Amino acid sequence: MLGAKRILLIIGGGIAAYKSLDLIRRLRERGADVTPVLTRAAEQFVTPLSVAALSGSKVYRDLFDLTDEAEMGHIQLSRSADLILVAPATADLMAKMAQGIANDLASTLLLATDTPVMIAPAMNVRMWQHPATQRNIATLQGDSVTLIGPNDGDMACGEFGPGRMSEPLEIVAAIETQLAAGPLEGKRVLVTSGPTHEPIDPVRYIANRSSGAQGTAIATALAALGAEVIFVTGPADVPPPAGATVVPVQTAAQMLQAVQDALPADVAIFAAAVADWRVSSASDKKLKKTKDGLPELTFAENPDILAHVAQLKKGRPQLVVGFAAETNDVRDNAIAKRKRKGCDWIIANDVSPETGIMGGSENAILLISDDGVETWLRMSKTQVAQRLVARIAKTLA
Ligand code: C5P
Repeated sequence: MLGAKRILLIIGGGIAAYKSLDLIRRLRERGADVTPVLTRAAEQFVTPLSVAALSGSKVYRDLFDLTDEAEMGHIQLSRSADLILVAPATADLMAKMAQGIANDLASTLLLATDTPVMIAPAMNVRMWQHPATQRNIATLQGDSVTLIGPNDGDMACGEFGPGRMSEPLEIVAAIETQLAAGPLEGKRVLVTSGPTHEPIDPVRYIANRSSGAQGTAIATALAALGAEVIFVTGPADVPPPAGATVVPVQTAAQMLQAVQDALPADVAIFAAAVADWRVSSASDKKLKKTKDGLPELTFAENPDILAHVAQLKKGRPQLVVGFAAETNDVRDNAIAKRKRKGCDWIIANDVSPETGIMGGSENAILLISDDGVETWLRMSKTQVAQRLVARIAKTLA
């Protein structure tokens, strides 16, 4: 059932648009509220009148319609839905989405939205197989757009192969799965990630090595299970996760401030590689080589953000998780670190250069908790994240 779910349905201009009429009926049968948007090309295939009659809603068609903008601006239209569905998604519309082009109402809504987007492609088999379309699909999937279909079969153009839009009931089933409440629905989770950069002068800094890959994978897995994720990140190598509120910072002091601002949270996960020290008085001018010798740098200790939150008397998250990146005596160091910091779990890993873990796509960890030490064999950082997040969901249940 899709009771009270608001779906913004963007109908693209392809012959499969006729199926979108039945799709509207199927969605409404299940209780969904459907707001339709037609592209100019779609109007060649289905009429605004039939779409309005079946959806029981106003049909939006124009980016520059002053009446629409006065009633509900396009930004609000793009955000007020639980889901945006593009069906049929034409090659042209997908190319615009992949490039971030916003030159009509549909593409502008897709660029302005922060709600999940699903697309049901429909096009000629050669267009589907064209490297440009395949490139666009890879880009869209990287942007967390969910693909439904397309199916193999006879096409209206007389050819056979992949490119047929999925049937309305298949699309409805995919939407029901996507909108099913995740086990972390209603939970607020704070994640720190990436390195911090501590300035020496305007062009130099000290930092730890950290790609941000593991923290990003954890945030992605949390959002996929329905959590509200606040992602406080230093300057990382990987793009930030979709579906999270991203708070970019540079220094440990800024990270602490951002963490304090983000509390309260049900869970806090500290995956950032925070620099332990900063230069106590960073120069506001570039330090120059002089004949008088080397510059004198004095250091100050950075706040320990994990320990600070783990030891909060008031407003401590129910579950506080820290990381321990070690190069020797991983287990003993991590057990001691868990005690010292006061966190509930420590995820420990060996980041010696020969492991290839730092900056790589795999991780091998120990999970240290009240229950003892668990060894997780080497797996992808995505798998580590999914397993960790499943464990968090079970702990909170
Ligand atoms: O002490 P160490 O840096 O090894 O501790 C690692 C754990 O503590 C990680 O979870 C890291 O995110 C967190 N940490 C922190 N603030 C610091 C130093 C470490 O939150 N200043």
